[in-house]
Amino acid sequence: MLKNLAAASLLTCAAMAAVCCTQMNDNGGTAGTKPSTMTPAVKNDPSKTPAGSTSGTPNVAAAVKGLKDAYAGKFLIGTCAEYGGYSDAEAANIKANYNQITPENSMKPDGLHSQEATYTFTRQDNLVQWCTENGIKVHGHTLAWHSQTPGWFFQGGKEAVAEHLHQHINTVVGHYKGKLFSWDVFNEAINDQAGGLNGAENLRRSQWMSTVGPEILTQAFKWARAADPDVKLYYNDYNIEQGASTNSGKHAASLALLKRLKADGAPITGVGIQGHWHLDTKLADVEQAIKNYEELGLKISISELDVTSTGGNSGALGGQGGGTITDAAVKKQAEVFGELFAIFARHSNSIERVTLWGISDTRSWRRGQGALLFDGQMNPKPSYQAVMDVGMGKWTPPAK
Ligand code: XIL
Repeated sequence: MLKNLAAASLLTCAAMAAVCCTQMNDNGGTAGTKPSTMTPAVKNDPSKTPAGSTSGTPNVAAAVKGLKDAYAGKFLIGTCAEYGGYSDAEAANIKANYNQITPENSMKPDGLHSQEATYTFTRQDNLVQWCTENGIKVHGHTLAWHSQTPGWFFQGGKEAVAEHLHQHINTVVGHYKGKLFSWDVFNEAINDQAGGLNGAENLRRSQWMSTVGPEILTQAFKWARAADPDVKLYYNDYNIEQGASTNSGKHAASLALLKRLKADGAPITGVGIQGHWHLDTKLADVEQAIKNYEELGLKISISELDVTSTGGNSGALGGQGGGTITDAAVKKQAEVFGELFAIFARHSNSIERVTLWGISDTRSWRRGQGALLFDGQMNPKPSYQAVMDVGMGKWTPPAK
């Protein structure tokens, strides 16, 4: 049995290496530069973690090989990734743990459509094909954003700018028609502080607002639906849970925006809470935000989850500080991940997927802040065990 498993896992690695050896993703890096601050239960191959084998129900336990199995029937478990550039250990880890992938950068406007006349689909198509062959669903990120969008999109006046986005959405969504699980239609339209546009919506003063205006959001959803009648369509943003407990701040703005979109007939399936969080993130806001979105009849995804073990975090670009990661921080991160997934599990009827924003602490845009479930050598951290335990119903909440 062990031999067969080992053989299967070797085959998996070989197959993955074959598809994953062409390019590095943009985080770049070589795995394995950051020393682990804890002793992992099992090294390098999460498909062999003892998480399942300690359960009292051996048949169920045998089926639980990774995160996706622990949450089967609840929601998809994803990571961001690109086609190519992974070590065998990383590739095997991806297959063992995730049944959903979001391309970290390649499906952004500048990844697919750097010049008006030029679409680039090769690397993205390879990823979609590989995912499809391996039973992994793909979430497209993102059709419209103020960032990572070439300047030509915003040239030529109101009608021309709207038409640029229309053509982009029509071509890109049409290209992947029937192949993707869902799309982020609009990313990060809400302002961080007060002082944004459109009253309570507090919209970010982006080039989309200065060239077209608030109606571009509704239009984008309608164009996406016209290009694919079945794909799920999401609005995605960060910190939109903040203020949910007090009906204020960015959360209140998100409710105003989502209500307007629905009232205007935008075909919106759900809302993506990015989930760029830290050790002191207010968990009551997270659960209240989920409840409020459920009340609007929306599906919910946690779309870019990472919890920094040191320093701050947010969806905003730029450094978030931080220093040495202590053992206490490693333990606290596991508690926070456990509490978050316990919230998600309580709302599994409305949550479609939970996507980690990276496969390890080094394959992370918050590199150096210990934000994910595996260290740079792909050793599972206590946070991984906490998430597995919640999924298998054997997690104990931390004493308060
Ligand atoms: C980040 C990527 O992880 C980085 O590689 C890139 O340099 C910048 O963008 N919100 C989003 C994601 O919607 O697209 C961002 O991803 C993180 C914040």
